[in-house]
Order: sequence, then structure tokens, then C-alpha cells
Amino acid sequence: MAALVERDAAVVEGLLAKLRDPDTDLPAKYRILFSLRGIAGREAHAAMLEGLKDPSALFRHEVAYCLGQRQDPAAVATLRTILKDEREHPMVRHEAGEALGAIGTEECLQPLREHLQDPCQEVAHTCQLALQRIEHFAAAAAAAQAAAEADANATESRYYSVDPTPAAPASTPLPQLASSLLDEEEPIFQRYRAMFALRNRGGSEAVQALGSSFTSARSALLKHEVAYVLGQMQDALAFATLKRVLEDANENPMVRHEAAEALGSIAAPECITLLKQYAADPEPIVADSCVVALDMLEFEQSGGFQYADDGGAAALASDGAGKEVSASA
Ligand SMILES: [Fe+2]
Ligand SMILES: [Fe+2]
Repeated sequence: MAALVERDAAVVEGLLAKLRDPDTDLPAKYRILFSLRGIAGREAHAAMLEGLKDPSALFRHEVAYCLGQRQDPAAVATLRTILKDEREHPMVRHEAGEALGAIGTEECLQPLREHLQDPCQEVAHTCQLALQRIEHFAAAAAAAQAAAEADANATESRYYSVDPTPAAPASTPLPQLASSLLDEEEPIFQRYRAMFALRNRGGSEAVQALGSSFTSARSALLKHEVAYVLGQMQDALAFATLKRVLEDANENPMVRHEAAEALGSIAAPECITLLKQYAADPEPIVADSCVVALDMLEFEQSGGFQYADDGGAAALASDGAGKEVSASA
């Protein structure tokens, strides 16, 4: 995550007023949120928390994600409340758990432990991953110099997202990464590590291996993250796979949501056609994801530098692929 920037209190107040305005539509709220997440200070943080009152589960999940990417321990109590709330949408609870893993302080451990066996499988798996992420980085920090160097090698990435697990070592052969990603018997933490290593590797074989998981994997959580990394990779080879995912009405909305955003990141003309079509999907999470993806895409194609509300001029974050830090995973 890029460093946060200082902004006048008036800028934050202006963004908050727009966020509260009932006439502000969802894409505009996304822009406001993306501005706020780049701004330092209590006021910006408090304004982001206001976003958690929004009626759209899609928007609330994005707020939770942004709180995690900021890695500000001030968000822990709120994230803990969301994680506990079984009436909240599972996608929002998932994002709250993942955010606790990203923040990773001592106080994040207990809430994560309480949900390791959550009845919602996506939430339970998220908390298992988040705890293992915290343990992994704690162990790496405590390890000897040689181990620390090996870990630095393992986590080398040109993507700026705070990922839910480290990547597998860069030296792992591609077929091995592909087989651990697709192995249903493998612990999900190892499968995630393989997935991020494939993302970092890039290229057609990596895209193909990642795409295969949509037909074989049982875990919606894993599939939603695969769709997210395909979006980060912005490789047009993933189009056909992502199209199938978006089109599949029986697929978990969380997975279809990430497929829509990934198609928006790839931004080829056929992606735009598809997103316009699914902007009318009966599932609001999918429909709204397409609307937001189209808005981001339009912004980028108009030569915009940073997807954000222009009143906010957020931090100049880049994911290294020449694009601003992407939406939630
Ligand atoms: Fe998301
Ligand atoms: Fe996610």
C-alpha cells in the first residue's frame, strides 16, 4: 500500500458530505472511498466508517477491504464487530476477516480465532488464512537472517496489494505451483501461496493454470481470489475463462463479482460489451460490480490517472502494472 497523503480537513468534509448525500450513486461513492483510503488521519478513517452504513453490501465489502489495505489498527474494533455479525453479508464478513489479517496486530488474533469454525465456510477459511498469514510473517521476522532472506525472495511481487498470504518461493517450478493450486487435499494456505506465485510469474501457462481452478476447485473463496489475481495480471488470455464465470448464474456472487472487476481491468472491447450486458444481472452484487467496473474503465480510458473523487486527489498508489491499486479481493 502506498503511503497516505495529508489533505485539508475541508477536503475530507467535502468527501463525507458527498458520501452521505442520497443522490450520490454507487460509482461516485466508490470514487469517494478510493480518495479517502489514500488520505492520512482520523477524519478520513471516520469518514470511511460511515460507508459501512451503506445499504449496498458490495459497497460495505469494499469499505472493509480498504480498511485492511490501509493497515490502520484503529479499524480493528469495527472489523471485529462486522466479522461477528451473522446478519451481515458473508462477502462483507469475509473482507473484515481478511482486513484483520492484513492489519495483523496482536489484537487481531482473538477475533480471527473465534471464527475459525464459522458456519459460513468462506468466513471460516478467510479467518484460517488470516491467522496463518500473521503467524507466517511473525515467524519470518523472528527467524535467522538466512530465513529472512529466503522469505524476502518468496514475497517479491510487482503488485502493491497487501495479499492474504505470502507467495510461494519464486524458484518453485510452474507445474508444481499449478498442481498445488488445483489439489483439493492441499491446505488452502498452500494453495493461496501457489496462486500468488503464479500471478507473480505471469505468462500464458500461469494464466491457464489459474483458470483451471474454476472448473476443479470447490472453494468459492479460492475461486474469488483467482478471479482477483487474473484482474491484477490484466492478461487478455483470461477473457474466455472470466466470461464463463460471470455468465454462470449458479456460481457464488462473490466469485462472479471478482470476475466482473477483472474483466474491467483487462478492459478489452469484448469485456466492455459483456459488462454492459451483466449490469442488468438479477443478482445485485453482480450487477453493481459491472456498473462500477464500467465506471472505472471509462475513467481510465478518459486518461484519468487515479480512480478517485477529484475533490480528494488521493495517494498516488500504483499496483506496478501501470494501473492504480485495484478494487477489493
Ligand atoms: Fe471484492
Ligand atoms: Fe475477497
